[in-house]
Amino acid sequence: MFKVNKFVTASQKILVAVAWPYANGSIHVGHIAGTYLPADIFARYHRLKGNDVLMVSGSDGHGTPVTLEAEKRGVTPAEVSDFYLNEFKDNWKRLGISFDLFTSTTTATHASVSKELFLTLNENGYIYEKAMYQPFCLDDNRFLADRYVEGKCPLCSYEKARGDQCDDCGRTLDPQDLINLTCGLCGGTPEIRETTHFFFKLTKFEDSLKQWISTKLKWKPNVLNFTKAFLEGGLVDRPITRDIEWGVEVPLPGYESKRLYVWFEAVIGYLSASKEWAILRGTPEAWKDFWTGEAQSYYFMGKDNIIFHSILWPAMLMGNKNLNLPTNVPANEYLNMEGFKLSTSRNWAVWLPDYLDRYEPDPLRYVIASNLPELSDSDFSWKEYVRANNDELVATYGNLVHRVLSMTYNYFEGQIPSNKSIDAECEELLLKGDKAVSLVGESIENAQFRKGLSVAMALASDANKFLEERKPWQTNKVDKNKTAASLWTALSVINCLRIVMEPFLPFSSIKLKNMLGLIDTKTPSWEWDRNALIPGGLIKKPDPLFKKLDDLIVEAEDAKLKK
Ligand code: MF3
Ligand code: ZN
Repeated sequence: MFKVNKFVTASQKILVAVAWPYANGSIHVGHIAGTYLPADIFARYHRLKGNDVLMVSGSDGHGTPVTLEAEKRGVTPAEVSDFYLNEFKDNWKRLGISFDLFTSTTTATHASVSKELFLTLNENGYIYEKAMYQPFCLDDNRFLADRYVEGKCPLCSYEKARGDQCDDCGRTLDPQDLINLTCGLCGGTPEIRETTHFFFKLTKFEDSLKQWISTKLKWKPNVLNFTKAFLEGGLVDRPITRDIEWGVEVPLPGYESKRLYVWFEAVIGYLSASKEWAILRGTPEAWKDFWTGEAQSYYFMGKDNIIFHSILWPAMLMGNKNLNLPTNVPANEYLNMEGFKLSTSRNWAVWLPDYLDRYEPDPLRYVIASNLPELSDSDFSWKEYVRANNDELVATYGNLVHRVLSMTYNYFEGQIPSNKSIDAECEELLLKGDKAVSLVGESIENAQFRKGLSVAMALASDANKFLEERKPWQTNKVDKNKTAASLWTALSVINCLRIVMEPFLPFSSIKLKNMLGLIDTKTPSWEWDRNALIPGGLIKKPDPLFKKLDDLIVEAEDAKLKK
């Protein structure tokens, strides 16, 4: 029979633009919480909804963060950049961060798209040349751009702030802001020399940006307040070239020894990656679907990146004309560890490659998703990791699944039992499933990921309560029909959990789908058909979804940290 599907709607094009990690070090839990996990949950959800998602990012391979690391290791910047590009790609696969393309700013496509945008902004009158003063080290015979210069932070007095930012208070700086400048290479005192650079006329966009931001009523308050305060402080034109050798060339004569500034060029990565993705799939114009017309774009990042995405990049897009401005910039605050800010130099972090070598991906996704720094800083600790894994993931969700599948396996020979005797109590639980599907979806759409996950977990708790009340392990001996109804209902709700958990916990959802005997029966979707499990169908022999972790690992992991 011809079936009309009332859910068919034109699919929305959604660009999920994810901040590009510097290719100078491994990813840690802070990056995952601030940026990658929320972006992935959002992208997975929209794909399940049937929307057309393009999720792109890549390694940020240029700039002084990368050249400094290369010099420290005695290798070329390209080698450092390639090394981390490969590590990132491997890590995304193992953590289930589902990029459609994860590329690098060191590609030829990125260089040409960056140069083109630079030239367009220049033609449109938004770029000009100006002489400026920059620290120059006589001993090293070079200009000290960004991170090559150190000094005291004018804002918080931290002694070792660098020319692009203060690692202590997190604020963005310019080299000339620092007090008591020293050369980051030799420790000497640089002189101040004149040099000419291109400037981007950010000031020209102040009014348009203010106007645009005033329409963003649904943005998160942390992002909106930060952006508004920055705009109120008044904008200044920014130099967008640097006296360095590593980076995208400046496409105008006289600038052979200079390169585009890493921030100016890296944000263009969203566009160049979209173009690269389109070329790779053989439809070179397809990127336009995600950058024009009704397409929406969501930019994910940690709070230190906000102004680059809510002010600089939108201004560049305004100056370029014809491409969509961000729909939303749902940036996060910071994830701390045991109350302290994560720090690479103090080894105060959990590094992703190290984690993935020893533990499963879903428990980390779970504990981070349930503690996301959505509106204020949040905290990670190994103690909380083990607790959340054991007391929530295993005890609530894993246990529910395991006992229902085991009872089905043992009492009904692995067959989905009959649903003929379902009663009001069963209906009530099924209704909670329907509500969870819409509420989790709504939460994810609004970038309230913690809320979405807690709604899903509440459904698992409700299903556990349902079982406690109906005791199928007892009724099985006396009332086979009721037992069948209880287990059919619980199985159906577990199938609902599999769907609503999928954006958060993709690995266990796939495993569960397989155990429920649902493999390949349907294309993935955010719709829960409560009758999808047909009585008589076979389930697989159950295998626990999650493993209990020993409390001893808390001590062992903490000891490693403090080393
Ligand atoms: N590499 C930057 C950081 O780690 C983020 C760059 S986001 C981009 O803070 F869009 F500019 F690429
Ligand atoms: Zn500071």
